[in-house]
Amino acid sequence: MTKTRTENTKLNQWIQDIQQLCQPENVYICDGSEEEYQRLAQELVKCGTFTKLDETKRPNSFLACSTPEDVARVEESTFICSQKENDAGPTNNWKDPQEMYKTLKKFYRGCMWGRTMYVIPYSMGPVGSHIARIGVQITDSPYVVCNMRIMTRIGTPVLKVLGNNDFVKCLHSVGRPLEEDEEDVPWPCDTKNRYICHFPEDRTIWSYGSGYGGNALLGKKCFALRIASTIARDEGWLAEHMLIMGITNPEGEKKYFAAAFPSACGKTNLAMLMPTLPGWKVETVGDDIAWMKFGDDGRLYAINPEAGFFGVAPGTSLKSNFNAMKSMECNSIFTNVGLTDDGDIWWEGMTDEIPSHLRNWLGHDWTPGSEEKAAHPNARFTAPASQCPVIDKDWDNPNGVPISAIIFGGRRSSVVPLIYEAFNWQHGTFLGASVSSETTAAAAGAVGKLRHDPFAMLPFCGYHMGDYFNHWLTVGEVAGRQLPKVYYVNWFRKNENGNFIWPGFGENSRVLKWIFERANGVDHVKETPIGNVPAEGAFDMTGLDLDERTLSQLFEVDREAWGHEVEELRNYFQIFGDKLSQGIRKELDSLESRLKG
Ligand code: OXD
Ligand code: MN
Repeated sequence: MTKTRTENTKLNQWIQDIQQLCQPENVYICDGSEEEYQRLAQELVKCGTFTKLDETKRPNSFLACSTPEDVARVEESTFICSQKENDAGPTNNWKDPQEMYKTLKKFYRGCMWGRTMYVIPYSMGPVGSHIARIGVQITDSPYVVCNMRIMTRIGTPVLKVLGNNDFVKCLHSVGRPLEEDEEDVPWPCDTKNRYICHFPEDRTIWSYGSGYGGNALLGKKCFALRIASTIARDEGWLAEHMLIMGITNPEGEKKYFAAAFPSACGKTNLAMLMPTLPGWKVETVGDDIAWMKFGDDGRLYAINPEAGFFGVAPGTSLKSNFNAMKSMECNSIFTNVGLTDDGDIWWEGMTDEIPSHLRNWLGHDWTPGSEEKAAHPNARFTAPASQCPVIDKDWDNPNGVPISAIIFGGRRSSVVPLIYEAFNWQHGTFLGASVSSETTAAAAGAVGKLRHDPFAMLPFCGYHMGDYFNHWLTVGEVAGRQLPKVYYVNWFRKNENGNFIWPGFGENSRVLKWIFERANGVDHVKETPIGNVPAEGAFDMTGLDLDERTLSQLFEVDREAWGHEVEELRNYFQIFGDKLSQGIRKELDSLESRLKG
């Protein structure tokens, strides 16, 4: 008999309640061991969810392919169920919590028939870290258990640290009960009834109907961003959609930066950047989420609450992200990519040489030129962070790493210069609030359309975004804090001919160098109405063959275009109504008058 009870009374009660509601065949508490992982992986292979990849090519790695309807986060079915509608704000879907519990209970009743109910105790952040938090996910998906074991720290050590304390309750079901003798399908789900629900006041997540990514791995977007952002607001810290990187100069001095970008702006690539500048080194702490708290010394410390990377596979190659490719050489899970004839994986953009035949993510024969894709555009790799060749030595440090700069960015073909610096924290908060990005072909909808995505948190903030801006402002008002400088970058500016004017990738280290030097107080700036840009000659362009025109375009601030930007932002900010902080209004007005001045 496996244990179905823990030392935690509330957890035991919750397990019992959910068991009664969902009526699984078995209950299993995960210990997080390698042996357990192997056992579950074998079972997944047996039922057709996992295909084991060739052991010599990609040791201990598996491929899973979902149904075509369950391939991404479902924002339209994501709800913030706060007591008051106004606490969810205009950027979230809201439902009354009691009503939502009632609705969902109907779905959950008996939803785990014929399945095992897995209980996964997990820590977001190094186990026992004062910045980390513990959640428990109940799920009927062994695929989710395997992914959670890579993406978070799970099992017995977490239960030990939890003791009898509270935890974030995360309930997940694929919503596919099995009748007696009914054979399971490789990717069970209920795409007609999908609900990803957050109850911030109860520190509870209920997810139903999807087995994919952020809908199902509840530690990531649901806990580490939506629920954690509300905890952070209540407790005075920051839960952000940011990568964390360490950067070392040729003299061996090291600093850490955190950076927020909307989807499709190359966040994972930046987190694992290979600098082209001689002697500079970038190391990775995290590629997606940062939890940051001020220490007693007044500095801001960040941990990566995750333990793995859940990255977009298509487009990732040894050229575009060498370190990501190395991270997934073994012990990884691939979802919705192609399976080559020799038992390895492949996706669009992975290699110059295209396989002559493979089985695509839909299970169909695929040859070059096929109408279907080899991999779904949102196909993912799940890889342990510890396998990244440039993982930072302090990525697992329970005290976190001290942050010297915060960087925001978006994909903008015009208007926004390569880099500019905020005048102060309030102005920096305004920069975060004004993040916007042009949509790419990778996402549904019109290409090149500007989408506002404040702090890159639009789909991930668990409360009213107006209150969130205010929280940022408040955090900066506490006396004695050494606030990081704030920056805005844009790698994607184009010239009149529609060509990118900045080479990007490893050359972005030049931008990081300038930020690094600014953190050391080097006075390298030219003041413009929008913020500080590098002073003439202060930005390292050695070895880059850019003409004079391009060089001036990179840092150009066109007052007229920025005038339109201000109008556009003023218009957008209206959605926050009375909740839009004075600080943000003031910054917008000041920007407007500086542009006119
Ligand atoms: C992600 C996202 O999957 O931001 O990380 O959408
Ligand atoms: Mn993300």
